[in-house]
Amino acid sequence: MLEEVVATRYVTPLREGGSLPGIVEADDLGTYVMKFTGAGQGRKTLVAEVICGQLARRLGLRVPELVAIQLDPVIGLGEPDQEVQELLKASGGLNLGMDYLPGSIGFDPLAYAVDSKEAGRVVWFDALVNNVDRSWRNPNMLVWHGEPWLIDHGATMIWHHNWPGVQTSVAKPYDATDHVLATFDPDVAAAATELAPLVTEELLTEVAADVPDEWLVDEPGFDTPEALRRAYVEALLPRAATIHERITLGERTERKPSQAPGWLTDHLTPWPHPTKNSKNSKNSENSENSENSENSENSKNSKDSGK
Ligand SMILES: Nc1ncnc2c1ncn2[C@@H]1O[C@H](COP(=O)(O)OP(=O)(O)O)[C@@H](O)[C@H]1O
Ligand SMILES: [Mg+2]
Repeated sequence: MLEEVVATRYVTPLREGGSLPGIVEADDLGTYVMKFTGAGQGRKTLVAEVICGQLARRLGLRVPELVAIQLDPVIGLGEPDQEVQELLKASGGLNLGMDYLPGSIGFDPLAYAVDSKEAGRVVWFDALVNNVDRSWRNPNMLVWHGEPWLIDHGATMIWHHNWPGVQTSVAKPYDATDHVLATFDPDVAAAATELAPLVTEELLTEVAADVPDEWLVDEPGFDTPEALRRAYVEALLPRAATIHERITLGERTERKPSQAPGWLTDHLTPWPHPTKNSKNSKNSENSENSENSENSENSKNSKDSGK
């Protein structure tokens, strides 16, 4: 079971996330990012956060500590935002908390380098749990005290949305083409050698035991929370052994066409601009002139620097 704390103050919503998580303080004096049971994404998102977050940490990846947070919606009464009010009202009882990393910043693959071994571990882990939400568009990684941390494992284990089809689903490959670490030459083979043997039935049973019963009850096809926990274990165990053979790294993100708007890519393309050259002679003249003046500028600079 996760450690349980009681929310004492709702501090502020986090607008970056799609699920409107909020920062709360709790009776252990901790500050947490809280994910609400009443959010539109539903309680399976929280189950995924617990199983994957706990598993990743046990495998040595950096994930902030998770707790279960008791929420009395009354603490949000002073909150002026209607949307937040509704969310708090719908989320009385147990919610998920993740230790808040103060001063952390969003991971930017252009500004921060990860070595091939670490990139391999993260990609392999994301393949294991079928994480579809760690792309360069939305990395769901933070940099804190100079190190990358993994957050947001809500969009994983797609099979738990359709248990009758679980075997087909867990046998599927993992497309890491858009993964935020795809450009760091992830060594997934080394990661599989290191991590796959650690993903034992015992470890998976332990992390599944951390999910509170109330997020597991009333799942069609399962009589008890324990039976559903078992299904999570049985889905992940065989996948751990072979998923490294089914990871597509594909073409690196940096070689993909830029997603930036035209006015910006035009600006970034090296001078003389090819489209302007081909469009009309006036522009190509201009560019020639600019090229000449740039050249003369360069030669002036080189003269200067030679002084
Ligand atoms: N533990 C944390 N410490 C600091 N900031 C966090 C933490 N967890 C999330 N955040 C911030 O909140 C945002 C949304 O969180 P996330 O877990 O990605 O929610 P969502 O499921 O809505 O995408 C993140 O992009 C990040 O800026
Ligand atoms: Mg997110």
